[in-house]
Amino acid sequence: ETGSEAKTLRVLLAGPRGFCAGVDRAIRVVEEALRRYGAPVYVRHEIVHNRTVVENLEEQGAIFVEELDEVPEDGHVVFSAHGVPKSVPAEAQRRNLLYLDATCPLVSKVHREAERHFAGGGPDARHILMIGHAGHPEVVGTMGQLPPGAVTLINDAEEARTVQPEDPSRLAFITQTTLSVDDTSEIVEILRERFPLIEGPKKEDICYATTNRQEAVKAIAPESDLVIVIGSPNSSNSQRLREVAERSGAKRALLVPKLAALDWAVLDDVETVGITAGASAPESLVQEMVDAMSTRFRLNIEERIVKKENVAFRLPSPLGEPV
Ligand code: F3S
Repeated sequence: ETGSEAKTLRVLLAGPRGFCAGVDRAIRVVEEALRRYGAPVYVRHEIVHNRTVVENLEEQGAIFVEELDEVPEDGHVVFSAHGVPKSVPAEAQRRNLLYLDATCPLVSKVHREAERHFAGGGPDARHILMIGHAGHPEVVGTMGQLPPGAVTLINDAEEARTVQPEDPSRLAFITQTTLSVDDTSEIVEILRERFPLIEGPKKEDICYATTNRQEAVKAIAPESDLVIVIGSPNSSNSQRLREVAERSGAKRALLVPKLAALDWAVLDDVETVGITAGASAPESLVQEMVDAMSTRFRLNIEERIVKKENVAFRLPSPLGEPV
């Protein structure tokens, strides 16, 4: 090897990628709360599942906690984009904490669907099957809108095939917003076939951002020797992007939280690298990675945009104002 001729690396950038409207809003909620009320502002759970975002907000004066008992009396506390069980605002109220709810409006919409199906637990109530991943905060938050026992979690197709609800004629389903579109449609099909009277959304509750990012990675995967998904390991939609990339023809797909975590050896035999980013990963992390690649390779960059997005959400009261 002479070392004088840098190899040419083709870079396919998936579009859309990175921040969704719910993540953008949740970050603005914390920043606006810091501006109005001054530091510290407490945030219950990672505001969005991304270390870089969390560290940036910490630098501005946010303090991240897991539970409300870590928030002092008279503290301001923000609930994360994933949503919270009903018990959390109730507890905040009981303790006279000033709270701001950064739950993504598309998650709140699922909360309301769940409540509609439950119908107050009266004669019209339907038992709810929630398609989602056990332990994810969004699932905990959505199931926690209703009393224990009102919702049964369906983790995968196998559970959809074996679940034995008490009254199969009075069922409804809802889903987590960040699931794999393909896996979920398979699960919904199984449920509709087993329980023809089940009520639910036309397809599922997967949000526009999750859907578009999966579609975009599918468009670059078949040509990619490697797809790098920039995102944190605890980010559900980022994990799904990695799986979708692999299943759609990428030779290999890796979740890389940020440049510092990239092992350059993975690019050794790669001629085309696809890059995307989870809905909670800032675009600056993508740019940082592409810039670092440009110092080692001659880059041939191509952006493939499968869809334009123009979704934006207003801040919740009392921060509410036009975006
Ligand atoms: Fe909301 Fe979807 Fe983002 S539910 S937080 S817009 S990934």
